[in-house]
Parts: sequence; structure tokens; C-alpha cells
Amino acid sequence: MKLLILNGPNLNLLGIREPEKYGNKSFDDYFSELQFQFRNVELSFDQTNIEGELIDKIQNARKDFDGIILNAAAYTHTSVGIGDAVAAIDIPVVEVHISNTFSREEFRHKSYISPIAKGIIVGFGLQSYDLAIQSFLNTKDD
Ligand code: DQA
Repeated sequence: MKLLILNGPNLNLLGIREPEKYGNKSFDDYFSELQFQFRNVELSFDQTNIEGELIDKIQNARKDFDGIILNAAAYTHTSVGIGDAVAAIDIPVVEVHISNTFSREEFRHKSYISPIAKGIIVGFGLQSYDLAIQSFLNTKDD
């Protein structure tokens, strides 16, 4: 199984950025742990701060991957274009968030991705990504 983890804006600063909300670990370090943990999965990881690039990466992933684990970060709450890109492709997308967006500001309760996502994993810290990979492994024959 080939899965793409796609992170949106400011998630390149994980480990440095608001550690009380997002933890102390960089995503590169966490990604190495995931690759070790899921040696049977072909995992790729990409990140961009730019909305249009995120749309390009979602579109392109449909050719090369069985699914996307998407943390669109702030664009989750604002981007009709990213929601449309998720709707346009026929591979499943699992939406993840590190923090529990529903326990935070009202504007973080809205997601343009959730209505089209295969599922949503929110609020488990970096473990949200681990759980998302497991969801693909457990439901791959659906
Ligand atoms: C986030 C939650 C978003 O509201 C926020 O803008 C982020 C990170 C999360 O993973 O908890 O940048 O997507």
C-alpha cells in the first residue's frame, strides 16, 4: 500500500511552533518513526505552505498513491479549492489534525475537507497520523 502524508501551512515548524499545542517533535523525526513502525507500507511525506501547491499535490497523488493522509492545517477552515481537489480525486483521503480543533476557536470547527473525507482523526497529537495509517490498513478491503 502506498500512502502520502501531506501537511499544509506552518506544519514545517512542528517542534518549534506552539509546542504546548503541537508538541516538541519535528515531523521529520516523527516520520522516521512511522516508516520504522509501518515497514510494510510505502509511506511518503510532503509539505507546503502554499494553497495552490497543496491542490497540485492532491491532484498528482491520485496517480501514484492508494490514499492520502491530509493535514491541510489552517487551509482546512478556509479553502473551498482544497475541498474541491479532495472531491475531484478518486483515492480516499483521511483528514487529520494534531490538536482537537473542536476544543479550540470557533473558526477551527469548520472544515471544507470533512464532508468529503473518508474519515477524520482529530486531537491525538502526532499519533493522529499513526491512527490514520492504521485506518487504511484495517479497511483496505472495503
Ligand atoms: C491543525 C489545526 C489547525 O486549526 C491549525 O491551523 C493548524 C494545525 C492541527 O493539526 O491541529 O495549523 O491542523
